[in-house]
Amino acid sequence: MAQQEKGVFQMGCHTLSIDSSLHRLNRQRLVNRLKPKNLGSNVLIVLQGGETKNMYCTDIEPIFRQESYFHWTFGVREPDFYGAIDVNTGRSYLFTPKLPESYAIWMGKLLTLQEIRDIYGVDEVHYVSDIANVITGLKPELLLTLEGLNSDSGLTTREAVFDGIGKFKVNNKILYNEITECRLIKTSAELQVLRYTNRISSEAHKEVMKNIRSGMTEYQLESIFKHYSYYNGGARHMSYTCICGSGDNGATLHYGHAGAPNDKVINDGDMCLFDMGCEYYCYSSDITCSFPANGKFTSDQKIIYEAVLKANRAVMAAVKPGISWRDMHLLAEQTQLQELIRHGLLKGDINDMMSARLGYIFMPHGLGHLMGIDVHDVGGYLEDCPQRPKEQGLSSLRTCRTLEEGMVLTIEPGIYFIEAQLKRAKDDSNLSKFIVWDVINRFRNFGGVRIEDDIVITSTGMELLTDVPRTVDEIEALMAEGRKLDVKFPQQKMLK
Ligand code: GLY
Repeated sequence: MAQQEKGVFQMGCHTLSIDSSLHRLNRQRLVNRLKPKNLGSNVLIVLQGGETKNMYCTDIEPIFRQESYFHWTFGVREPDFYGAIDVNTGRSYLFTPKLPESYAIWMGKLLTLQEIRDIYGVDEVHYVSDIANVITGLKPELLLTLEGLNSDSGLTTREAVFDGIGKFKVNNKILYNEITECRLIKTSAELQVLRYTNRISSEAHKEVMKNIRSGMTEYQLESIFKHYSYYNGGARHMSYTCICGSGDNGATLHYGHAGAPNDKVINDGDMCLFDMGCEYYCYSSDITCSFPANGKFTSDQKIIYEAVLKANRAVMAAVKPGISWRDMHLLAEQTQLQELIRHGLLKGDINDMMSARLGYIFMPHGLGHLMGIDVHDVGGYLEDCPQRPKEQGLSSLRTCRTLEEGMVLTIEPGIYFIEAQLKRAKDDSNLSKFIVWDVINRFRNFGGVRIEDDIVITSTGMELLTDVPRTVDEIEALMAEGRKLDVKFPQQKMLK
């Protein structure tokens, strides 16, 4: 409570403190985009925040996580709010649910309207029950609400609805593009949070690499990551379900889901592909580390790892404003294929391989994605952007935009030995002819390698947000250091 009173978010003094001015600037940027459109002299943006999720079988509430557009605009941490912004004056309004006094028994002291105003730094706070009256009093000629299709999930935003909205003129088409373009380019205050989430997740990955031992179960490393992130960084949420694939599980791109809950025992000799990122104040991180479970790369593990690292570094060297993300995907594919040729896994002409889309066999996902309040952040395929390509592999790209300063993206090339993909290649003579099957067979059950870093595009290139060991030597050195320490996480107790 003490921190809230000061209008900052912080999870203890060892964690990053974030001022509500981050959202004031976001609102200002949004109205600056809308004003030149001359939509009228009295136009009001109206957003509806995330709602309390009720389940029919229990009154237990899952931990609330704010709807992302509402968080970007207002930074409100609780459910069932509305917010409004006057486009012409920039004046901001929050509408809070009026909770019965009895809620104080379960929720603690109920905040007054003035307290809420101080916490979130808006101009006015009213009750949701008064929203129609308050907006009527503002005499808007137009309300802008948010309706738009998310190009990753295929779902549409929750457009603001309240009792009495029917008497206002509403446009739900204009806002989506404009607010999403604003979210695409991060402010320095937002970058500070993204640097912080990357720092926590980077340190948590290092903790995992130091503490992994053969014989542990994959989810025990997930548990170390989560504990480190929350205990040290105050990160209560993960940005996505942790992917902790060892051995051939590394070839399952989104391993860790409910049907495969990171539950394999890790063997000596396994390659691990651990893709985990924490979220702080609704801002994401998304990092993948690939390394041998026993701390020492075999020669085959080194070939694949260094091929992927070369692609990762080639993209890092090439990105800057004006560069097409689609071209970066192709650069990563080409770099990896060239390395597979060099090490005898493939044969033939690289240009022919690229035309045949052989890269898709070994990297069936996009090179990376926008990142921000959502781990797969919005803005990938807005109206005037390059549209989703049709070619295999490229069609998985979550954006094909030309890079701009202030965009945050992941760079995550990978090479995977996926049985279904190898079968597809075997059955297609246009692909099969490039593959040296005797050598490839050595890599069946290898799993995969992904090397994923988070970056921000700068005026001349990029800033790397992620800070984990990346070369073979750096990884082996860190893991050797971990092996000298007393085992911090001893074998689990037998509780059955
Ligand atoms: N790193 C997980 C994902 O991008 O889906």
